[in-house]
Amino acid sequence: MIDKFNRKITYARISLTEKCNLKCKYCMPKGFCAKNSNELSDEQIKNIIKALLDLGINKIRFTGGEPLMRKNVIELLNEVCSLAPIEWAITTNGTTLKHDAVALKKAGIKHINISLDTLDSQDYKTLTGSDLKNALNGLYAALDAGFDTIRINAVLIKGISEKQIENLAKITLKHNIDVRFIELMPIGQCAEYSENHLLKANAVLDILKDLKIGVQDAHAPAKYYKFDGAKGRVGLITPMSCNFCSECNRIRITADGKLKPCLHSDIEINLCDFLHNEDLLKKRIQEAVNIKPERHYLNENQFIIRNMSQIGG
Ligand code: GTP
Ligand code: 5AD
Ligand code: SF4
Repeated sequence: MIDKFNRKITYARISLTEKCNLKCKYCMPKGFCAKNSNELSDEQIKNIIKALLDLGINKIRFTGGEPLMRKNVIELLNEVCSLAPIEWAITTNGTTLKHDAVALKKAGIKHINISLDTLDSQDYKTLTGSDLKNALNGLYAALDAGFDTIRINAVLIKGISEKQIENLAKITLKHNIDVRFIELMPIGQCAEYSENHLLKANAVLDILKDLKIGVQDAHAPAKYYKFDGAKGRVGLITPMSCNFCSECNRIRITADGKLKPCLHSDIEINLCDFLHNEDLLKKRIQEAVNIKPERHYLNENQFIIRNMSQIGG
C-alpha cells in the first residue's frame, strides 16, 4: 500500500489489550480503568492479520496496554505467527517474561522491545508502581530465550533519567541489546505530565561523549550510535526535537478495532463492521492508508485524546 505522500506502508502495530499490570505516569492516567469488554476476539484479530498480510504488510508488532495481559495470548500468537514468515515483534514491559519468554520465542516472535526507564528500584517503583526485579528477571529470560533482536525502551523523564543514562547505555557494552532513549510525547490525559518532564534527546549525547555514529535501520524511528567495541547500539527516538514522519511506514490497530493511520492524529477508522468480509475489510484498510496524515503537529501543541495505553506506542 502506498499513501498520498508516496510512503510505502509495510508495518502494522496491533494492540492486543488496553489492560496493563503497571501504571506508568506518562502512559496510564490516574484512576484510568482499562475496558476489555470491547476487545477484538482472537478470530477478529486473525481476520485483520490475514487482510494485512494480503495487503503487503511484512512486519507486525504486538503492543498493548501490556500485550501479555491478554487472555490466552500465547495460543493466539502461536496461530497468527504461523500464517506467514514475516517479522513478528512485540513490545512489552517485560515483567512476566520470566514465564513467557520461551513460549513467545517458540510461537514465532523474533523481535522483542522491553520498556525499562530506570535501573533504580525506588524510581522504578515511583514511576510504574511495580517492582524492578520483575522487569530485570524478564530481561534476563529474554536474553536466554534467544530472540533475533532485543531492545530496551527508556523514556527520557526530566528529574529521573539524567542519572540513569550512563547505567542504561552501558548495558550495550556487554550484551547484544539496543538501548533506546525516547523523548516523552504529550499524549491523552497524561499530556501535562509529559510536557512538565520533557528531556530532549541531546541530553544523552551531552552525557555519553564517547558515542560514535552506528549502523542505521531503514524506516526506524531511532537514530543509532555505538560505543567502540560494544555489542549493542544506543538509539535516540526524537519525535519532539526532530520528526521522522516522511519515513513513516506504519499503521496501528487498537484493541477495540480502530485503525489509526497516525499515532498523533485522532483520525480513526472503525474496522469492526467489516471483519467478516475480507474484500470489504481490505478496502477499508486501503481507504485508511489513503488518509494517513503527512506529519504530526506535536510542536504546535496539537495532542490527541486517546491515552498511550490505549494505542500501544
Ligand atoms: P521497531 O522499529 O520495530 O523496533 O519498533 P518501534 O521502535 O517503532 O517500536 P516500540 O514499540 O519499541 O516503540 C518505541 C517508541 O517509538 C515508542 O515511544 C513509540 O511511541 C515511538 N514510536 C513508534 N512509532 C512511532 C511513530 O510512528 N511516530 C512517533 N512519533 N513515535 C513512534
Ligand atoms: N512518550 C514516549 N514514549 C512513550 N511510551 C509510552 N508512553 C510514551 C510517551 N508519552 C513508550 C513506552 C513503550 C513504548 C511502546 O512507548 O515506554 O516502551
Ligand atoms: Fe508516522 Fe504519525 Fe508517527 Fe509521524 S507521527 S511518524 S506520521 S505515526
